[in-house]
Amino acid sequence: MTSEELLSASEGSLEKSLRPQYFDQYIGQDKIKQELLIYIEAAKNREEALDHVLLYGPPGLGKTTMAMVIANEMKSTIRTTSGPAIEKPGDLVALLNDLEPGGILFIDEIHRLPRVVEEMLYSAMEDYYIDIIIGQGETAHPVHFPLPPFTLIGATTRAGTLSAPLRDRFGILSHMEYYDEQDLKEIVERTADVLNTQTDETGAIELARRSRGTPRIANRLLKRVRDYAEVVGEGIVNEDIASKALDLLRVDSHGLDTVDQKLLMTMITLYNGGPVGLNTLSANIGEEMETIEDMVEPYLLKEGFIQRTPRGRIATAKAYQHFDLPEKHL
Ligand code: ADE
Repeated sequence: MTSEELLSASEGSLEKSLRPQYFDQYIGQDKIKQELLIYIEAAKNREEALDHVLLYGPPGLGKTTMAMVIANEMKSTIRTTSGPAIEKPGDLVALLNDLEPGGILFIDEIHRLPRVVEEMLYSAMEDYYIDIIIGQGETAHPVHFPLPPFTLIGATTRAGTLSAPLRDRFGILSHMEYYDEQDLKEIVERTADVLNTQTDETGAIELARRSRGTPRIANRLLKRVRDYAEVVGEGIVNEDIASKALDLLRVDSHGLDTVDQKLLMTMITLYNGGPVGLNTLSANIGEEMETIEDMVEPYLLKEGFIQRTPRGRIATAKAYQHFDLPEKHL
């Protein structure tokens, strides 16, 4: 390599960060991207703020990344916070006051906003103002506080628990879906490239197959598989290395991790496959009910390992087959 080529190669790798910056680098979520590109272009042509966006779906699918991409595509500034971090109305006022016209406020875990803060958001979102009470007792008086036009991007793992008045104020509702194997393979290859790790096609496919449809998991596993490849193998992530490293991490052939496996085995061995209630499962496997509902169950439901019935969760025939167990006896 000439020194010029070396220089441009290093610039290239610096430029290419782990998180995609624009839609053309963002792999998957095609439906959402297609829609947002239109709304973004329309808002830019009208020189208006983009309508408020709610991104919802299981953790690790790229909601924060999507918010950053939207900001870049809008050429807007973005401030990032989360529901539990905004404790009182004054915190929200400070955040909103800081926004430039057309700026974006990103609130992660928006379902965890305190009620009083959430109620202040209604007028802010709808008409760009907030009314606050200044002072206490006799000197207390309301102050009308106009805001610049802005875009709120909210992210949540549970759109169902958002109050209807808040949910209804989002003009754009985007449901993030689990990624298919092809998209995850491309993400693994892109990340490997950023990390300067060599993968072959079979290695990337093996990682994609065992990443629970989730880029965050794929990227985390890739780093561990890279360690394994460098120490045990010859530095190249191929199928054999990926498979052995993932076995060591106790991620099974379908990508189920130890918590997934524990949940399914508890349902099968202790409750004859169910139905069994969420609180019972939570006590048995030592995970919070919220964790099970938001992080564990959605993938197991999607892949058909469990079903939800009015009487509780049941393990399906596919779950029994997965563990090579004879099917449930009634
Ligand atoms: N890294 C993590 N998620 C990604 C995505 N959706 N596209 C490209 N790179 C990613």
